[in-house]
This record gives sequence, structure tokens and C-alpha cells, in this order.
Amino acid sequence: MDNIIIEGGCPLKGEVRISGAKNAALPILISSLLADGYCTYSNVPNLKDVESTKELLINHGAKIEAEGDTVKIDSGGLNNHEAPYDLVRKMRASILVLGPLVARLKKARVSLPGGCSIGARPINLHLKGLAALGAKVELVHGYVEASAEVLKGAEIFFDAVTVTGTENIMMAAVLAEGTTIIRNAAREPEVVALAEVLNKMGAKIEGIGTSVLTINGVSSLKPVFVSIIPDRIEAGTFMVSAGLTGGDVKLLDCEPSHLESVIHKLRLTGSIVTVDGNSVSVKGGESISSIDIKTIPYPGFPTDMQAQFMVLMSIAKGFSVISETIFENRFIHVSELRRMGADIKVSGNTAMITGVPALSGAPVMATDLRASASLILAGLVAKGVTRVNRVYHLDRGYDSIEKKFSMLGAKIKRVKV
Ligand code: EPU
Repeated sequence: MDNIIIEGGCPLKGEVRISGAKNAALPILISSLLADGYCTYSNVPNLKDVESTKELLINHGAKIEAEGDTVKIDSGGLNNHEAPYDLVRKMRASILVLGPLVARLKKARVSLPGGCSIGARPINLHLKGLAALGAKVELVHGYVEASAEVLKGAEIFFDAVTVTGTENIMMAAVLAEGTTIIRNAAREPEVVALAEVLNKMGAKIEGIGTSVLTINGVSSLKPVFVSIIPDRIEAGTFMVSAGLTGGDVKLLDCEPSHLESVIHKLRLTGSIVTVDGNSVSVKGGESISSIDIKTIPYPGFPTDMQAQFMVLMSIAKGFSVISETIFENRFIHVSELRRMGADIKVSGNTAMITGVPALSGAPVMATDLRASASLILAGLVAKGVTRVNRVYHLDRGYDSIEKKFSMLGAKIKRVKV
């Protein structure tokens, strides 16, 4: 397994191009199951989760060609309704095949994703939604078995805002008979991106970007050519790295309108953030001010940026409170940051952080993608050497992270162990 070794203390400077968004690419690649013929996707990030998605689609009978950041998928040969445990356990987002498989093959058998290190992550709302559309849904030997001769439009109210739940039901409803209304739908940019792709394929979805989606079912969809939107979490991670190291970094090819809450909070910490078209420049301030953060669904502050901001707060002047309201166990990074000298106390879903003058490098490890990213950030600003173990999680969601940081002047390298 690879490790990443960082010698901290270099202010990051220069330009970095933001890759396509993981959480948009996964559902959009999976939406190819809804049409026959080649769908073409550009700006697809080079990630382990994208490789797992391709493997999953091939398992269902799709043909895939890939060159550079372009991926072509033809689901004309869709013939297998089962997503086995070995594929689903690698990547929870595999559950997104459930809606498309029932819509296209009238049945699906998908391994139930277990909990993961950040929380129990149930999929009850996906299943309730599918049942409301008329599917028979059962849990059998660790698998979700769902079937429906015909899916019928229905009114669905989500008790919680769920990103992949909204995406799954949207993909089932586009091919259902009649009208589906999803209330309390997720409004994340990745959900919007998927809805727009589905409409380009011929679906009829209204209310995109709002919490009420109205979907008029159609009998078939056609292949599309689309570009994956920029990754707002990768962008946010690089923005924090500039503020943290007192650097001056310009992000290219990002979508600033998706980053409003992150930009707002970063400015409050003292960083100077300038937006110009599709680029964002971040210059570290004289010092880092402490701020409070509460994670909430979009357009609120994203849970996927909580760990990175905690690193910033660890060396801020004063006391900060971070409340995590989306996932019940998303403070995995805290114990590792403490080992690097951070002063953080946790009570339930609240972390209380007293800024310290500096962090010190240490061997660290995390079992979650964003927690791992926060350890890289901590390593970039810490005194001495940090070794981040279990890089597997980072590779699931960050395209060439060490190369990009290295181009910004960081002393960072990947080593095989
Ligand atoms: N929830 C339920 N029942 C459900 C579904 C969700 O109770 O059926 C709860 C969850 O337990 C959680 C909350 O609702 O407390 C929100 O979960 P959501 O379903 O929105 O999360 P997700 O769809 O599984 C996606 C992203 C995550 C991101 C969250 C929140 C993808 C592939 N994953 O997960 O991304 O943190 O939305 O924005 O889109 C990451 O990229 O590191 C990551 C974890």
C-alpha cells in the first residue's frame, strides 16, 4: 500500500486545475444504464471510485471505452440485474444501480451496503421511494431484491435530505409511467448535474435545483455527450491549503457558484478570496481567525469540507466550534490531528477546537476519504515530517493529489511500502 510523505512548512503558490467531480461522475456514469447506445462523458476524474463504477457497469453488461478523461459507455447489452457484494463493498455509491436496473430490467438484486466509518448510512429512504413507485422491495440474505413489472409515478416525501437517495429515485422515476413528485429532494450541485444529464437524455424533470422535483415519465431515453462538472470538494480542499499555509493559489476550471458557503467561511478566517469567472484565487491572511461551522445540506456548509476546515481551526487564533449534523461519526480525523498537537475536544456531534501555534508532523492514518485529505493538509502546515498511511481512501476521491500539491511547491511524495 502507498504512503504519502510530507515535509511541512512551504507556503503553497501557483495554479492548480480542478478535476471533474467524483460525486457527479459516479451517478452520471451509472445513468448510462438508462439508455442504449454510446453515452460519452468528458472531464471524468481519474479515481479509484470511477474504476469501481466502470467495473460495476461492465458487470451489468455495459461496454466501456476510455481514453484520457473521456469515457464512453454503451449499455445496449444490459443483461445482469445483480450487483454482487464484492463490488458494492468497495464503493457504497454502487447502490445507485438499483433505480436504473428496476426501471430497465424490471428487477434488481443489489448487495446492501453496510455502514461505513463515518456512520451507519442506511438506505431506507431509497427503498421507501422505490416501493412508492410500485416496486416490491425485500431484503434477502444481505441483498436488496426489488422488482416491478411497471413503475408508476407517485408522491415521495424524503424524511431526510439524501443525495444518492434523490438520485436513485430520480433515475427510476424518469422511466416510470405518469408523474412523480419528490419533496424534500437534495439540491446539491451533483444532483442538479445528474438531473440535467437525464433531461438531455430525454427525461422530463422540472424543479431542478429546488427541493421539489416533478418528473413526468417517458418511455425511453437516448445517449448523451456531457462534461462532468468540477469537483467543489477538491476545489475547497485546495482553497483551504492556501489559507492554511499562508500561500497564494489560483484554482482553474472550478465553479465558484457551487462554493459560496466555503468561500464565505474561508473569508471569515482571514483569507483573501477573489473570484474571476471559472477561477478562484486564495491568498492566506496575516493570521487565521477562528470561526464556528455547522454542516448542513446544500447550499449550507458541506460535511465533505468539515475535516479540512478543522485543520485550519487547529492553528487559528482563538476557539472554534464545529457541529457535524449529517453523519454521526465524522470526526475520525480528530484523534490523528490530536497526535499532531491539535487541541480538540469532542462531545457528541460537536468538536471544540482551541487553536495552537503550530502542528507537528507525525505518522497518521484515516479510514475515510475527507479525513485523509485533512491529514494531508495538516502535514502541509506541520513542523517536520508527516507520513499519511492508507492512501487508498484518498485515491478513491482525489485525482493526483500529491502531484497537484507538489506543483504548488509542497514537499510531498508518494512511496510504496
Ligand atoms: N440517510 C438516511 N436514510 C437514507 C439515506 C440517507 O437516514 O436512506 C441519512 C444518512 O444516514 C445521513 C443523511 O441522510 O445522515 C445524508 O446522507 P446522504 O444520503 O445524503 O449521503 P449519501 O448520498 O450516502 C452523498 C455523498 C457523500 C456526502 C453526502 C452528504 C456521493 C456518492 N456521496 O452521500 O460524499 O458526504 O452525500 O453530502 O454522492 C464523500 O465524497 O466523501 C462523501 C462521503
